[in-house]
Amino acid sequence: MALNVVIMAAGKGTRMKSAHPKVLHRLAGRSLLQHVLDSCAGLGAARTVVITGHGAAQVEAAARGEGLRFVRQEPQLGTGHAIQQAVPALDDAAPTTLILNGDVPLIRSATAAALAQACGGEKLALLTIALADPTGYGRIVRAADGSVRGIVEHRDASDAQRQIREVYTGMMAAPTAALKRWVMALKNDNAQREYYLTDIVAMAVAEGVPVVATPATGETEVLGVNSPLQLADLERRFQRAQAETLMEAGVRLADPARFDMRGTLQCGSDVEIDINCVFEGRVTLGDGVRIGANCVVRDADIEAGAVLHPFTHVEGAHVGPGALVGPFARLRPGADLGEEVHIGNFVEVKNSTLAAGAKANHLAYLGDATVGPRVNYGAGSITANYDGAHKYRTVIGADVHVGSNCVLVAPVTLGDGATVGGGSTVSQDVPAGKLVVARARQVIIEGWQRPKKPAKG
Ligand code: UD1
Ligand code: MG
Repeated sequence: MALNVVIMAAGKGTRMKSAHPKVLHRLAGRSLLQHVLDSCAGLGAARTVVITGHGAAQVEAAARGEGLRFVRQEPQLGTGHAIQQAVPALDDAAPTTLILNGDVPLIRSATAAALAQACGGEKLALLTIALADPTGYGRIVRAADGSVRGIVEHRDASDAQRQIREVYTGMMAAPTAALKRWVMALKNDNAQREYYLTDIVAMAVAEGVPVVATPATGETEVLGVNSPLQLADLERRFQRAQAETLMEAGVRLADPARFDMRGTLQCGSDVEIDINCVFEGRVTLGDGVRIGANCVVRDADIEAGAVLHPFTHVEGAHVGPGALVGPFARLRPGADLGEEVHIGNFVEVKNSTLAAGAKANHLAYLGDATVGPRVNYGAGSITANYDGAHKYRTVIGADVHVGSNCVLVAPVTLGDGATVGGGSTVSQDVPAGKLVVARARQVIIEGWQRPKKPAKG
């Protein structure tokens, strides 16, 4: 079905009390507007027009989608005025125009599609919902035969009309040609001196164009964000729904109320996730992976049987099968751990490959390093990979043993089976199988006496 999509995103969002445009506030890692754009992505719209106003340049720079067009509405004189600005950008060859709100982020694709379908280029279709407390919303006014006659805004409604619980959600689909005509004929003679888009309903009725109400599937998909409180409420609803989907697929979440996914998470079987973990970007967890409490994992692949112990931070990394990481470990971009690698507490790994069975268990840094299989990398040891201008690699062969508190000054290569004595600063290559000790020789001072405090008297 050929379709125009129009998203109203000009509003300021005064109640957010923020310097940022309202529709750029984030829900599960994506802006409110991006949620709406992503929900529309599958509708096959001929055009998607975003109406911007407050923070227009910022909003336009942040929005992502195919064939987006932007129109500006300055000043903002109401929802009808907003659609007037979009009129020149609409594709006349698309008989249906779907109107959504940039601050109603959880509208479901299926609902948006049903609304467009209900219009079918011929009817005016309103997305509605019955609310226990309809205060503030436009009410759906019906005739005795049940047909929709109009929408009356709360401020303009009579006491009797305010009893109506069926409300307009702010989303509609209209025949494109008629919509253009109607919005250009709107007047602002109402309580707020605004051009109300909702006044087109009465125009449609007057012209004999059928008006139909399409019910929303639930409250969550029609809730708007006007305040930090509402934003947090929608975030929890969204996270709860994601958590339920994962649990239905067999993922064991210690507590679905303390789980945050800001991207995509693909899980094998028997995955366990403890409380307060945050997943960002694209993350995959293999069969039997266990994630301890308070881990943050972004853009990472964790293979089968691997364990992230609590308070581990992983970004842009690959963790091989059966590897153990943390607690309090940090894997930075380019960390690539092989099978059964162990990374312990307060160990940082960046742009380094560790082959199967390598271990760095305590207080260490590996940056720009290639580490062979079964290497043991001692506590407090670091690669000095940066000379202030350039970065260099450290190559550590198979079965190397690096003692504690060593500095490996890159570029440097330790041959297979080499041993580095504790406290060494290694700045030249070490041949395979050799012991290197690069520190001051120990000296015993004969006859030395510890100073004594003078006797009190
Ligand atoms: C609107 C509807 C009301 C409905 C309610 C649902 C009108 C006249 N009323 O009221 O019937 O129950 O939504 O939430 O449409 N916007 C612009 N430019 C403007 C004004 C608004 O882009 O000049 C945008 C806002 O940023 C927002 C959306 O349009 O995304 C709705 O505007 P808002 O002021 O919230 O309308 P309501 O008064 O809530
Ligand atoms: Mg509103």
